[in-house]
Amino acid sequence: ADTLGASAAESGRYFGAAIAPNYLGEAGYADTLNAEFNSIVAENAMKWDATEPAQGQFDFSGGDQLVAHAQDNGMEVRGHTLVWHAQQPSWAQGLTGDALRGAMLGHIDGVASHYAGQISSWDVVNEAFAEDGTRRQSNLQIELGDAWIEEAFVAADAADPDAKLCYNDYNTDGINAKSDGIYDMVADFLARGVPIDCVGFQSHLSVGADLSTYQANLERFAELGVDVEITELDVGGEGSAQADVYRTVTEACMAIERCTGITVWGITDKYSWRGEDTPLLFDDNYGKKEAYQAVLDAL
Ligand code: XIL
Repeated sequence: ADTLGASAAESGRYFGAAIAPNYLGEAGYADTLNAEFNSIVAENAMKWDATEPAQGQFDFSGGDQLVAHAQDNGMEVRGHTLVWHAQQPSWAQGLTGDALRGAMLGHIDGVASHYAGQISSWDVVNEAFAEDGTRRQSNLQIELGDAWIEEAFVAADAADPDAKLCYNDYNTDGINAKSDGIYDMVADFLARGVPIDCVGFQSHLSVGADLSTYQANLERFAELGVDVEITELDVGGEGSAQADVYRTVTEACMAIERCTGITVWGITDKYSWRGEDTPLLFDDNYGKKEAYQAVLDAL
């Protein structure tokens, strides 16, 4: 096939992009999205600050726009993200103890129920581990203790029993202390019947990244018993060096049956959160970069 989405679909996988609803009116943006991708995720529109600006008052306008676009164009939708230490609304940031627990559970129920049946996989919890493999000392961890992550997964499962439920993190691009910590948590959840279906590997990379254990790391999670997804791929750099990193990541996913798809964190360098790093597959004018061809060939 000659597009990313169609090529990925040949092996039953998706190829997705992070999308902002305010750009959908731009022809180059929408045309590239519709031609090349068969999955989307909201870059920001489904985060806590965007969806619950005041406690119990939900705003699904941006997310609904993205879901409608996806459904009109036959795309899947990943959900990102129900609980994260960043981009929390200001009203939640000062809460403590049971008030914070109630806010977290109310948020999960409100958002996951609203989108129930329409999300392929939810990033239920994002970035809860520190680099050394212990828990990140976020307000959630400090106020709620270790059990907050499984409480979040149980709540998400109750609100949307159809979605696959993922834990998602970065700097997990090999076998290292952080991915070890996550591995141990997933093993524990599976052993105790805490609902978890997948692990997302953000994969915010740059040229020269050490990917010597990238595939082996995905493989050990798959063998443990969860799907793995490349959830936020972007690669700072340019030319063939950048294309090589994209190729390595794509080949790793393709080599693993339980790697169900790849999402790049945006379409065009022009709108990337790392714009100065030119990390995406399309240049500022939606021209296909060398990295694009490398990914297409590897799918
Ligand atoms: C980023 C967005 O791309 C930016 O627009 C926003 O200002 C900050 O968040 N890890 C994640 C994503 O899980 O949600 C982040 O997205 C990038 C890092």
